[in-house]
Amino acid sequence: MPCDRTSRRGFLQQGACGMFTMAALGLPGSVSALPVTEIEAQASGGERRYPLPTVDGVSIDRQAQVIIVRHAGKVYAMSLVCPHENAAVRWLPRDGRFQCSKHTSRYTPEGTFTSGRATRHMDRFPVRRDGAQVVVSVDRVFQSDRNPEGWTAAAVVV
Ligand code: FES
Repeated sequence: MPCDRTSRRGFLQQGACGMFTMAALGLPGSVSALPVTEIEAQASGGERRYPLPTVDGVSIDRQAQVIIVRHAGKVYAMSLVCPHENAAVRWLPRDGRFQCSKHTSRYTPEGTFTSGRATRHMDRFPVRRDGAQVVVSVDRVFQSDRNPEGWTAAAVVV
């Protein structure tokens, strides 16, 4: 499978490419701290419901352009769209971070901006827990520069 690193489809293939590359290089599984999977939501109005992740990892809902991340005891729902110029961000499992496909801005697993052209963190959707599901309100987004309190609070503690 070719590792397309420039398109949104390439973003979704990144996890498989990374795993293939790691296997080819004989790298230990611990290098890939958070596996990536593709998921679909149960949609109802402005809400999307996903199974609450039971282990740390990155899940992508390509249709809704939502990234679900479980990391360090919290679950986040973030936009697949880079806040700089709306290119797709992708998960780099070997490096354990997100990176924009256009200008290579870098973000931590929680969406915190670390370097590049972007001027804020990855946008987060409001989230809440409902039993074994995480419910994401996709008709609203928290931008870290305009609403830092909302952005920080947009997480489910697990
Ligand atoms: S579009 Fe992502 S850094 Fe420019």
